[in-house]
Amino acid sequence: MPITATSLLRVSGIEELRSAIAAARRNGARIGFVPTMGALHQGHLSLIDRARAESDVVVMSIFVNPLQFGPSEDFARYPRPIEEDERLALQAAVDVLFTPNVQDMYPEGRVITVTAGEHGTKWEGAARPGHFDGVLTVVAKLFNIVQPDISVFGRKDLQQASLIKSLVRDLDFPMTIIVAPIIREPDGLALSSRNRYLSDGERRAALSLIGSLRAASASFDSGVRGARELEAAGHEVIDAVTDVKLDYFAVVNPETMEPETAAHRGSAVIVAAKVGNTRLIDNVLLGDNDQD
Ligand code: PAJ
Repeated sequence: MPITATSLLRVSGIEELRSAIAAARRNGARIGFVPTMGALHQGHLSLIDRARAESDVVVMSIFVNPLQFGPSEDFARYPRPIEEDERLALQAAVDVLFTPNVQDMYPEGRVITVTAGEHGTKWEGAARPGHFDGVLTVVAKLFNIVQPDISVFGRKDLQQASLIKSLVRDLDFPMTIIVAPIIREPDGLALSSRNRYLSDGERRAALSLIGSLRAASASFDSGVRGARELEAAGHEVIDAVTDVKLDYFAVVNPETMEPETAAHRGSAVIVAAKVGNTRLIDNVLLGDNDQD
């Protein structure tokens, strides 16, 4: 079946995908790739738009990757609305939707894992041991299967984006990583597939994440540079809300994720908190007035 922008080619076999893409590449197409775990929302769709702007054929994968979930995490109940996802993918003019199954991705006898090393033990990695090894392993596999020219990731998962850039650099994947802005609800809540777990009350409490980031941002805009003071401004917002358990709130370098003691324009402020049973993350870049 030819690849055109008006039809969606849905493929779950690795070999079938490889031959569909090889055909497109033979025709000189530049391949753009957006990996996801499905339960698509406007955040994912914005990555597709970006991929389309930078390439000729857009491949999106949907794979809920068991390797990146801890034993007590939500792998089993992670939303899998595949029909709705397929409809959204078609609407967003995805050319190829790749939906591999777990057996194909992880056949028995698998030996190799890509590890994030020490970086994988910080922030999200501290709260979710092994998470980034799971992410890097599946992303490396997906890159080798799709062999895209470009791949688009969301800044919503800043540490993930930073590690994927390191993956591509350190293992010489011949491709470019693009990091796209965070898409938010009108009230500021960052879109996330996990938002659907929130009750109405939790949804309101979850606004304290963006509230805390905006407090730090406003403090920066008024001239404060000390990370401690910026962090205190954020803590104050979260501490005022019951049902929200702060994990971390920090000023970091967005490339390395190392803490900064003095913030500057472009520093990132990252936050993670549990709202009820749902773990949420968010971030902003300081001094960036055009941003999300
Ligand atoms: P998933 O959580 O489905 O996210 C897929 C992509 O969408 C990621 O690059 C993520 O940063 C981006 N994204 C999520 N919410 C966003 C928002 N509000 N605005 C912009 N982009 C957003 O991240 C994963 O899946 C997985 O770890 C994956 C990379 C697919 C590996 O399994």
